[in-house]
Amino acid sequence: MSSADVGHTHFDFAHLSGRDKYKLIIGTVIPRPIALVTTVDENGIVNAAPFSFFNALSGDPAIVAIGVENKANVDFKDTGRNIRVTEQFTVNIVDDAMVEAMNICAVPFPPDVDELEMAGLTAVPGVHVGCPRILQSPASLECKRYLTLAVGKSREIILGEVVGAFIRSDSVDPTNKHVDQARMQAVGRLGGHDYASTKDQFTLPTISLEDWITKLKNKNMATEWEP
Ligand SMILES: Cc1cc2nc3c(=O)[nH]c(=O)nc-3n(C[C@H](O)[C@H](O)[C@H](O)COP(=O)(O)O)c2cc1C
Repeated sequence: MSSADVGHTHFDFAHLSGRDKYKLIIGTVIPRPIALVTTVDENGIVNAAPFSFFNALSGDPAIVAIGVENKANVDFKDTGRNIRVTEQFTVNIVDDAMVEAMNICAVPFPPDVDELEMAGLTAVPGVHVGCPRILQSPASLECKRYLTLAVGKSREIILGEVVGAFIRSDSVDPTNKHVDQARMQAVGRLGGHDYASTKDQFTLPTISLEDWITKLKNKNMATEWEP
């Protein structure tokens, strides 16, 4: 059977439960990077929690986004609450060596528990923000809240502007800003409790229009639309 014969199963999101929409989204939008987000409350108590509704949305200004689902009783998660109060957060990228510690940070501890201590991770004071970064993380992005979107009654999408970055020195060239992605060993989240590593990488340069036209001509194919 060819892949064309398999067909696709259609889901009308208007007729799906919240849980089913969630399952289809996290199962299909893969892999999602993981932000281990550090924040502090108004008393300086540190909080850390992982978020895989996370991505970079813009380079300049440098904007990242996290999607925070509030608790079932619509109380804020500590991360969402702390960002409301301080308007700051730090995204710590999760690598292979940090996955177990990251998972401990997802335990729903009471607000006064320091997840970093529980997970054996080391807090380093922030430079541009009041929240700490995580020493073990290959890269940390210090962010100031840029915009918060209330999405339905239970979710917030928080955009942060990156105001400073710390990248492990063996993984970045400070002159040309090239990041050695193989050394980063970043981990992505799949559906359910599954994860993906970034060990299997490949390069695929973007094709210029000129190169594409040359390719077609080499194959003796017409290019009526050639500029
Ligand atoms: C890999 C991973 C990704 C997660 N992604 C999200 C997410 O995108 N949004 C969310 O609200 N919770 C997410 N969670 C659950 C939170 O980390 C969890 O609710 C945590 O206890 C919240 O902590 P806080 O109350 O200290 O902010 C994720 C958990 C794991 C393990």
